[in-house]
Amino acid sequence: MSDSPDPSGPAMRIGVAAEADPETRVAMSPETVAKVVGLGYAVTVESGAGARAGFTDEAYTEAGADVVDGPVWDTDIVVRINAPEPDEIGKLREGAVLIAMLAPRFEAERTEALTAQGVTALSMDAVPRISRAQSMDVLSSMANIAGYRAVIEAAHVFGRFFTGQVTAAGKVPPAKVLVAGAGVAGLAAIAAANSLGAVVRATDPRSEVADQVRSLGGEYLAVEVEQEASTDGYAKATSADYDKRAAEIYSEQAADCDIIITTALIPGRPAPKLITAADVASMRPGSVVVDMAASQGGNVEGSVAGEVVVTDHGVTVVGYTDLAARLPAQASQLYGTNVLNLLKLMTPEKDGRLALDLDDTVVRGITTAHAGETLWPPPEVTVSAAPAAQPAEEPKEKEPEKPRSPYAGLAAGIVGALALFAVTALAPAELAGHLTVFVLAIVIGFYVIGNVHHALHTPLMSVTNAISGIIVVGAILQIGTGGDALVIGLAAVAVLLAAINIVGGFAVTRRMLQMFTRS
Ligand code: NAI
Repeated sequence: MSDSPDPSGPAMRIGVAAEADPETRVAMSPETVAKVVGLGYAVTVESGAGARAGFTDEAYTEAGADVVDGPVWDTDIVVRINAPEPDEIGKLREGAVLIAMLAPRFEAERTEALTAQGVTALSMDAVPRISRAQSMDVLSSMANIAGYRAVIEAAHVFGRFFTGQVTAAGKVPPAKVLVAGAGVAGLAAIAAANSLGAVVRATDPRSEVADQVRSLGGEYLAVEVEQEASTDGYAKATSADYDKRAAEIYSEQAADCDIIITTALIPGRPAPKLITAADVASMRPGSVVVDMAASQGGNVEGSVAGEVVVTDHGVTVVGYTDLAARLPAQASQLYGTNVLNLLKLMTPEKDGRLALDLDDTVVRGITTAHAGETLWPPPEVTVSAAPAAQPAEEPKEKEPEKPRSPYAGLAAGIVGALALFAVTALAPAELAGHLTVFVLAIVIGFYVIGNVHHALHTPLMSVTNAISGIIVVGAILQIGTGGDALVIGLAAVAVLLAAINIVGGFAVTRRMLQMFTRS
């Protein structure tokens, strides 16, 4: 089914509605507004909507929007971050489209109100977890920001460095950070804590994340218990066996770590309790716990949603539920880009008219109400978050290696020795000396350099550059003697080859160093 609220009409008008206090974000940044205008839409922004995210009315005007005083509920498409209040829903026009985080899993009444109002409701927090939809997934983009911010909040409360230091005034050990749950938020937290210099450890029921944890500088603490695979892309509830073994790990880690960040927040489900009050009590005074799941009951016993609690023995438990909104400019930019990507999908003609194709899995997944009908829940979408196990390949039969003739090596040795003997017998005495040094250099160089670890090839290159430099000096001296044409010719070749080696060495070293330079 393909359906547009006004298929034959002129370009539709999108209204960017201001958010209610205390929200700091806005549904579209000026940058995304400009791109939406490029899709053919007219855009109206409520005056001051971007103020708390650092976007001025002038910036929106420059991006091509009309800025108006007062609400924009009467536009064709209303875009918001948070769901409108019931009285605001009443102001939406029949047939209008509402794009916001509508939480249909929890707010059945809201969905009914939207249906009764006759609007098409698109819920940004219900994007199915399929690869094609990743660019529209606001839960991921907000979780990424929140994970980063959780570390910054922890660092702010923690009265010490994250990084270890050796100074004249003494040695400072690095902070130890445990991240429970290595999904989008957890991986962002691991990367942020690692970049601040902390020792980072992480747990997750999905063992396939181990490599991702390691690649971000963390250590993966495996809970060696089989877990059922997820079908909808969201984490499955863990088994009793898993919880028991994980609880032991959390208790061990709580006694050792300075900071714990818990990220097990699964949409539509109460948060699993991971850290007990006893675990918190076993932490050193001054330690910090950030419970990113506080809004859904919390992963940490004793955390309070939206509050900072300091325990009797000095452990701070942060339960902020607005972590992404604490970086409003970035969060608005990413949310706006997610909305823009959805509009691109739903505006195939780039003519500023939204086409509702309910045969599209993504569009169907987020449409909660349309033309007076409630469309929630959508048909289940099965995704494979974990890579399907590949059937083990039949081990290929190795072709038996042909045994090398013991005489071949011997013959080569004899030929080499005879050649060396002939050259030393016929050549002048000093050449014999040089030749011996040359042959020894080749043999020793081959074995020494051949055994150098790959990671040390860059420093090795500097050494070979120094050797090449000596060769160039020696060869230039030979050319300067003005003797035999053969010697001069050979010296010229030596200068050429050594120069190529030096220039190439510098070029490769430069490229390798650039890989470690932050732009
Ligand atoms: P999520 O919302 O399903 O769960 C949050 C985190 O809590 C996850 O790390 C989960 O493993 C963890 N968790 C759940 N129960 C736990 C327990 N008992 N103990 C410890 N940790 C527990 O996850 P999230 O972070 O939103 O995404 C998970 C993965 O899904 C991502 O790493 C990504 O690979 C994939 N994904 C795919 C998308 C797509 O294809 N469109 C979109 C978003 C995520």
